Amino acid sequence: MHSEKFEIGLGNNDSSIRESAKKDYLSFWDECAKSLSWFEPWSKTLQWNPPFAKWFVGGKLNASYNALDVHQKSKSDKTAILWEGEDGTDRKITYGEMFEQVKKLANVLKSLGVKKGDRVTIYLPMIPELPISMLACARIGAVHTVVFSGFSANSLSDRVEDSQSKIIITADGGYRKGKIINLKEIVDESASSIQFVKNVIVYQRTGQEIQINEKDLMWSDVMDTSSDVCDAEKLDSNDSLYILYTSGTTGKPKGVLHGIGGYLTHVYSTYKWAFDIKDHDVYFCTADIGWVTGHSYVVYGPLLHGATQVMYEGAPDHPNSSRMWDIIQKYNVTIFYTTPTALRMLMKFGDDIPNSFDLSTLRLLGTVGEPINPQVWKWYFDVIGKKKCPIIDTWWQTETGGILISPLPGIETIPLKPGSATLPIPGLDISVVDESGNEVEAETKGSLIIKNPWPGMLLGLWKNMEKYKNVYWSKFESLYYPGDYAIKDSDGYLWLLGRSDDVLKVAGHRIGTAELESSIISHNDVAESAVCGIPDDVKGESIIAFVVLKENVHTSDDTLRSELRDTIRTQIGPIATPSQFYVVSKLPKTRSGKIMRRLLKSIANNETIGDVSTLEDGTVVSEIQSTFNELQKNIQNQKN
Ligand code: WTA
Repeated sequence: MHSEKFEIGLGNNDSSIRESAKKDYLSFWDECAKSLSWFEPWSKTLQWNPPFAKWFVGGKLNASYNALDVHQKSKSDKTAILWEGEDGTDRKITYGEMFEQVKKLANVLKSLGVKKGDRVTIYLPMIPELPISMLACARIGAVHTVVFSGFSANSLSDRVEDSQSKIIITADGGYRKGKIINLKEIVDESASSIQFVKNVIVYQRTGQEIQINEKDLMWSDVMDTSSDVCDAEKLDSNDSLYILYTSGTTGKPKGVLHGIGGYLTHVYSTYKWAFDIKDHDVYFCTADIGWVTGHSYVVYGPLLHGATQVMYEGAPDHPNSSRMWDIIQKYNVTIFYTTPTALRMLMKFGDDIPNSFDLSTLRLLGTVGEPINPQVWKWYFDVIGKKKCPIIDTWWQTETGGILISPLPGIETIPLKPGSATLPIPGLDISVVDESGNEVEAETKGSLIIKNPWPGMLLGLWKNMEKYKNVYWSKFESLYYPGDYAIKDSDGYLWLLGRSDDVLKVAGHRIGTAELESSIISHNDVAESAVCGIPDDVKGESIIAFVVLKENVHTSDDTLRSELRDTIRTQIGPIATPSQFYVVSKLPKTRSGKIMRRLLKSIANNETIGDVSTLEDGTVVSEIQSTFNELQKNIQNQKN
């Protein structure tokens, strides 16, 4: 582990927050919840019926009210979003304008028969209409389910079907890496024919020609005639705010369900503690709203605080690798939050590019989504932050709703260690345990676990509370199991070491091995498949797939590879495409028939292969190893 320490803060040192949380974490969160506006107070802080938590029971509030109405008196002219299109166009939206748009869209949804508890799928690019759509749902108590606009038609229809969404909100297209993604066409292909989808609302972002179907309504038409009078529904603290699908260890993504009162309290508080947000800040988070980071720290966190933020539509390196630095300079960004993958990619272009921009407005830097290598951390600190900005390495998950482990320069200054997410947030008991659930000693690798409930935690999994119990609460009794390896060092700092389950993290995106394997197996020629991750200089991890063909298949390996790539692109999306495919005659399996992914991973990572005594057929190891070596040699030769 990296031993250097950097003591750099923002001048805040309020030890009372940690102390009061330590004394009584329920009274502590109770106080935090009072920062929000409630229509009716709660009668109980937490009803804990393990593993089901209900926070602020009986309290009534509304997320859109807290994001918009509360700012109208003093901030209606303040800029909420400085939007930068990938194509260089820009827009500015004030809190007042956003308020009006949200109320109008909420009325449109109502007029289409959307009621409290109904689901609405949002499939939009990174444009202001995306948060507007989410808040319009939240205003009337509809449950939004945002689908990342890089997902394919199949992924979209799976999510629309599972959530039984009545309405889809989409755009004609969106810009990504200089190309247009034809979102409306994807909706037509996948979801517009699903019976329970009543209407598709289409925002015109690109102005390209699109096919108009019976169910389609143009955003501009319906908004033109809609009233801007729409009171926020008084919703129960534990009503659902959103479903966000995320990959797990099973074939289908899980619908993570979040509530209102607990979630907003967590996001509001962590946004203040970690980002030290102030009225004059210009915040820029590069995450797409299709992922949880965008939900919590592009939409809800900043808007609850009435912050000004930059929202960027496209790829971080388009049209070239200076785009991020250009945006920071153009908008005088003060807080920048991105991923280790983006940093590794930008770092490759050298220091001259960022050094040629004025980045002096920056005062705080953050990362999320995957472990950050100490050398990348140092580069971020030295070259981007000019040694004056603390870096917050924030660990959390879709399921946790908000940040759980991170430095908190908004309340305290602690020494930072490159590569460590440092300490848990106040009110949270986190530990590292061995396979039997016993706490391990300092500096020993084990599984990260959480001992007590926290307000941002998921309400459960959509339509599958049994699975919720099994996935997160059954590995270790009464402990939440996030699926990450970690080490606690002798200072109590946490070092996150990647996933301990069958989930890959490619460019910070969560991809389930089972989901990928079932997609590969859907190809006619494939009998079996196993995928695993190998380290990648930029993306953190890249995917490799081992494939067993059916008998008498004569497709050439090259054709097969390109067909498999296409299959995955259309079934899941381009982000899930493996970088390499290996055709083998058998997969290593235990006598009970389970694929030994650990072994494949060792071969692919050139590691020593551990105990294989439980293998059903030991000869497969040497076959896989030689196929792998052969292909590696070919790839190397091609490179040379
Ligand atoms: C990983 C993203 C190391 C981790 C907010 C976790 C991290 C998964 C960090 C959740 C970090 C997230 N350091 N690993 N700072 N942040 N992870 O649901 O494996 O897309 O379990 O949420 O990302 O991914 P998700």
